[in-house]
Amino acid sequence: MGRKLFYDPILSSDSSTSCASCHQRIAAFAHIDHSLSHGIFGRIGTRNVPPLQNLIWRDTYMWDGGVNHLEVQPLSPLTSPLEMNESLTNVLLKLNRNVEYKTLFAQAFHDSIITSDKMLKALVQFTGLMVSANSRYDKFIARKDTFSTAEKRGLTLFRSNCSSCHTEPLFTNNSYKNNGLKPDTALNDKGWALITGLSTDFNMFKVPSL
Ligand code: HEC
Ligand code: HEC
Repeated sequence: MGRKLFYDPILSSDSSTSCASCHQRIAAFAHIDHSLSHGIFGRIGTRNVPPLQNLIWRDTYMWDGGVNHLEVQPLSPLTSPLEMNESLTNVLLKLNRNVEYKTLFAQAFHDSIITSDKMLKALVQFTGLMVSANSRYDKFIARKDTFSTAEKRGLTLFRSNCSSCHTEPLFTNNSYKNNGLKPDTALNDKGWALITGLSTDFNMFKVPSL
């Protein structure tokens, strides 16, 4: 049911945009051919769509850490005028008028009245299951695969230059850092400083997994 909601444009105000419009499975649930997200009515967002993987091991979300619980995260895209442009009240009205969802929610929760609580619980069941743990790297670590000489050299280089921030096994130390890229003066994204209000956090962004 969480998966069905994730792929269903019913969550947007004109039924055009689903979570999967931006988070595309073919791209590890990111959007590879757009540098900034594209939402409802072709509106361009202000940030890049991150991939969705191994989310339950994180304690903050978004590039600036503005969300601290995976279960409430969907409220942000649902209500953003640049993304799905919908209200919680209206989403629930639409879902409660939909016979298929009524049946599915009744089966899952033994109650056919769809509330925001149940909708968010269903969605987080799906986003929480987006686990990546069987890559060639994972198999190498589990001694189920081998690396070529070049790949081993890459790992050594990585461990000496990158892993202070992109720490194994999840390739993030779950912190906010400035990786030295020049700030984009058109976007002027303050990063983590937007959340903490501290000027010392300006231009710090979530260290993403890889
Ligand atoms: C219009 C494009 C768009 C849509 C639609 C959208 N997202 Fe996103 N999503 C983004 C962008 C952009 C970010 C990064 C936002 C930020 O940092 O402020 C993001 C961030 C996230 C994150 C946090 C990931 C992380 O690593 O911190 C999760 C989880 C997520 N989205 C799930 C969803 C779900 C569930 C839906 C549907 C209810 C959804 N998204 C709809 C563009 C979108
Ligand atoms: C000081 C901490 C730090 C170090 C060291 C570091 N990174 Fe990063 N990396 C970041 C941050 C923060 C971001 C996100 C920056 C942004 O979006 O502007 C990032 C982004 C990335 C991304 C883009 C990921 C995505 O999903 O968009 C890749 C790939 C990457 N780093 C690889 C590397 C490699 C390879 C090295 C070593 C040569 C390295 N990083 C060293 C902090 C670091």
